[in-house]
Amino acid sequence: MGEKIVNYGIIGVGLMGREHLLNLYHLRIQNVAVVCIADPHLPSQQHALDLATSFNWPLKVFSGHQELLDSGMCDVVVVSTPNMTHYQILMDIINHPKPHHVLVEKPLCTTVMDCRKVSTTMRWLDLIKLCSRFI
Ligand SMILES: NC(=O)c1ccc[n+]([C@@H]2O[C@H](COP(=O)([O-])OP(=O)(O)OC[C@H]3O[C@@H](n4cnc5c(N)ncnc54)[C@H](O)[C@@H]3O)[C@@H](O)[C@H]2O)c1
Repeated sequence: MGEKIVNYGIIGVGLMGREHLLNLYHLRIQNVAVVCIADPHLPSQQHALDLATSFNWPLKVFSGHQELLDSGMCDVVVVSTPNMTHYQILMDIINHPKPHHVLVEKPLCTTVMDCRKVSTTMRWLDLIKLCSRFI
């Protein structure tokens, strides 16, 4: 029997979100798949869909991160939205009943206080692994 596929969702599919999509496609032999994206901006959605279609990956598209989380489709979420949205999106991920692994683009948040709140809540819940490229 094959190994379990690790399902990724990407929140924010601008420049960096599409870069993650492409990089994860190159990791497909490691049992990785991007199954959905969330972005309110239609042209960003379309660019990501075109990219995923070019390598034959079907993607479910959501306009917001909450719908993506509620779908229960993902084991891991990549947060690659504008900086000022990171705090709220991270807190919504952390507080969601389904635990998710998270990779967030730098910066973690835009204030030290928000960074502390996120990391303290995560440590307290002991649920989510967060791997920011640079904090
Ligand atoms: N561009 C770079 O070279 C670079 C390098 C390293 C890190 N980063 C970081 O990556 C993150 C994204 O940067 P980018 O250059 O890809 O920006 P971008 O503007 O190209 O893309 C951001 C995308 O997020 C979407 N978005 C906005 N609000 C959203 C929300 N609430 N939910 C879901 N999607 C939302 C936008 O519609 C857009 O498609 C930023 O935190 C940035 O600091 C960027």
